[in-house]
Amino acid sequence: MVAEREQWGSRIGFILAAAGSAVGLGNIWKFPYLVGENGGAAFIILYLICVLIVGLPVVIAEILIGRTAQKNPVGSFRKLSNGNPFWMGVGALGVFTGFIILSYYNVIAGWSLGYVVESIKGSFQNLESPTMAGELFTQLSSSGQWAVLFHGLFMILTMGIIYCGVTKGIEKASKIMMPILLVLIIILVIRGVTLKGAKAGITYLVKADFSVITTKTVLLALGQAFFSLSLGMGALLTYGSYMSKKVNLPSSALSIVILDTLIALLSGFMIFPALFAMGLKPAQGPSLIFNILPVMFNSIPGGYFFRIFFFLLLSVAALTSTISLLEVITSFIVDEFHISRKKTAIIFSCIVFLLGVPSALSYGSWSSFKIFGLTFFNLADFLAANIFLPLGGIFIAIFVGWFWGIKNALPHLKEGAEKFPNYCSNIWSFLIRFVAPVLILLVFLSCLGII
Ligand code: TRP
Repeated sequence: MVAEREQWGSRIGFILAAAGSAVGLGNIWKFPYLVGENGGAAFIILYLICVLIVGLPVVIAEILIGRTAQKNPVGSFRKLSNGNPFWMGVGALGVFTGFIILSYYNVIAGWSLGYVVESIKGSFQNLESPTMAGELFTQLSSSGQWAVLFHGLFMILTMGIIYCGVTKGIEKASKIMMPILLVLIIILVIRGVTLKGAKAGITYLVKADFSVITTKTVLLALGQAFFSLSLGMGALLTYGSYMSKKVNLPSSALSIVILDTLIALLSGFMIFPALFAMGLKPAQGPSLIFNILPVMFNSIPGGYFFRIFFFLLLSVAALTSTISLLEVITSFIVDEFHISRKKTAIIFSCIVFLLGVPSALSYGSWSSFKIFGLTFFNLADFLAANIFLPLGGIFIAIFVGWFWGIKNALPHLKEGAEKFPNYCSNIWSFLIRFVAPVLILLVFLSCLGII
């Protein structure tokens, strides 16, 4: 017997779950260091433009596919394309990408959980410089046991939520965790901007210097918008498949995009004012969060607690994202192979855990094991984020804009949004048919080094 498909209990439940998927390490870890390396406010403005003209239209398109078909990515494309194998392949690519992203994303999520524990233990109290923190980071992340232990623990947390189902698991967890996340980030922003010397950091975030912008910056901004909004692999599609047709889709999509962007901006205001106040430099790259921040908190009054809050914030944000990734795989297996959700959650968490172990060890005993010159971790990240996601994004835009077609898609978009104005549909249609595919193609070619 096939059980009836679950639905979100409420509109806000859906919005918080989807925003939870979007808000993650991408916002708190990656966005600030990209801002720091690429000219502060100028990068932020570019990012906002990318979110508006590509991010939002594709978010709407992806949710729409799922809500219309009420199936996992493969099933949705099958239904809407009448079984066209190419489009089903696009859905399958999405599920596969989810596998890969989850395997290494969960490793970083594990580090943040590990850092909560280390913060409580006080391991960072005596560190004086980012170099010392860097050494500790290397020591921890290269210790296979530590990395694999927290990778495993985080996978268990993710599995537990998916095991409980859509409303009792994902929706409930998001409704608890998203407000916690907001409160934590606001506390940390207030702490940051009230430090002596924080003004320089605020100026850095609001004063745009466009001379530093190059085409590469534009492409970085677009790539980041994509990853941050969880686009291109069917995560939002899957969440959309649990959405009622009575709910206003465009306005829900807008709320998701606003929440994601707001948290990214707040992350900037959490980190830079404090960084400048401590006399540190903004351009620190990926190590910003794990090397610089733990030390930075030492010079902040109450730093011991704020450090715990910070890594807790990171873990919570990551958890609402890992569950969305595991849900894509789960919905696919449950729909297509009629295996129970509980069994699927357990079996596939174990598989993803094993797949992630080489990534977890990439910073330690496996660091010299390279494929195409990349460690396992970097290879997984490169393949997923730079190749499969943009490809998936282009295909989603082309599918809705050209294959399924705006004419067929629009009536579904207007279900639950009868008042959606015509000029908005026209703008959406133009963006999804022309702007999104072309811009994403440029990012893709640039990531491959072709342009
Ligand atoms: N958006 C999340 C972040 O910013 C990561 C994420 C979750 C994701 N699900 C995804 C990225 C699906 C791409 C596709 O951290």
